[in-house]
Amino acid sequence: MHHIILNTESYFGPGCVSKVGAEAVERCLTCAFIVTDETLVKFGTLRPVLRSLQESGLNFVIFDKVKSNPSIAAVQAGVEAFCQSGCDFIIAVGGGSPIDLAKAVSVIAANPQHADVRSLEHVRQTRCRGVTLFAVPTTAGTASEVTVDYVITDEELGRKFLCADDNAIPRVAFIDADMMAGMPQSLAAATGMDALTHAIEAYLSRRAWTMTDIFSLQAVACIAQHLKHSCNLPQARENMALGQYLAGMAFSNCGLGATHALAHPLSSVWDVPHGVANAIMLPHVMAFNAEMTGDRYRHIAKAMGVRGTKGMTETQYREAAIGAVRALGKLVGIPRGLAELGVTRESFPQMAELAVTDATLPDNPRPMHAGQAIALYEAAY
Ligand SMILES: [Fe+2]
Repeated sequence: MHHIILNTESYFGPGCVSKVGAEAVERCLTCAFIVTDETLVKFGTLRPVLRSLQESGLNFVIFDKVKSNPSIAAVQAGVEAFCQSGCDFIIAVGGGSPIDLAKAVSVIAANPQHADVRSLEHVRQTRCRGVTLFAVPTTAGTASEVTVDYVITDEELGRKFLCADDNAIPRVAFIDADMMAGMPQSLAAATGMDALTHAIEAYLSRRAWTMTDIFSLQAVACIAQHLKHSCNLPQARENMALGQYLAGMAFSNCGLGATHALAHPLSSVWDVPHGVANAIMLPHVMAFNAEMTGDRYRHIAKAMGVRGTKGMTETQYREAAIGAVRALGKLVGIPRGLAELGVTRESFPQMAELAVTDATLPDNPRPMHAGQAIALYEAAY
């Protein structure tokens, strides 16, 4: 049996965020609780959203206290602020962090028995649908606007945990490339490589099937072609916005794998940006997984733009797929290895223990034990 869940409605195209107000009015909503971060407020990124709300005669409250990698305490502060705000829906504006935090707030506000944020870990079907959530991504990577997943950092235990809940999926998404125009090159590179990792891990997932393959392979092609120009060409930016969304449609419905399992500890222990951690680990995990993937790397290589894949041997197309991923990371300026980021070898055993219990690992095509996780960190050093 297969199951697909996507957000209810999505708008695509530059300027589409102007529909926020009309969508809220159509749903008889009156006051928006806007979850975002201070930088987006400071640089005026929020303005088109506020304009749309004002033009539709709607009220709003801005909650801009979101930092990257939202913590349990940040979620609790968000729930408290939402409950006191008198708002009847939530708009998340930002990268993965504000959208993930907004998902947690939306779910807990509708399911107060889950006030203990840790109770949401892993695949959790809470009883009630979350408070209506609109999502406006300002980066092209996490696809949090179309996924059931969100990641919370447990600062006390020094780990990140993944929650997957159908009730957390945003109701309406606005994939507006204009909202992503302010991304610096390094952020576009990191988030774009995160999206590529989503697409490739979804395509190699144990739960991948015809429907998710359509999304993931198209996402690989779209990202491989457009990531490098997404900061300076509006058309490339628009295609990246679509590519990351396609990748989200795939992985939200069939899972991820060992790259994300190994990347999460790099962020929680060393504060490595999520996309950078994925980009560094991905080629090594692809090499580790290769023997369990049949001819799938041939299709990945072709989608990455490699020519002549039809006549290649198994070894050749596997090397070609891994090489193409490595080359794209290099092209967009991803650091070569973990040493460059200040990560020390002494932390590998601790991170490996976290990686093997990560919720994303069970969908990886090849099982991975702690010794293999350490070897992969070594390879990526
Ligand atoms: Fe990711």
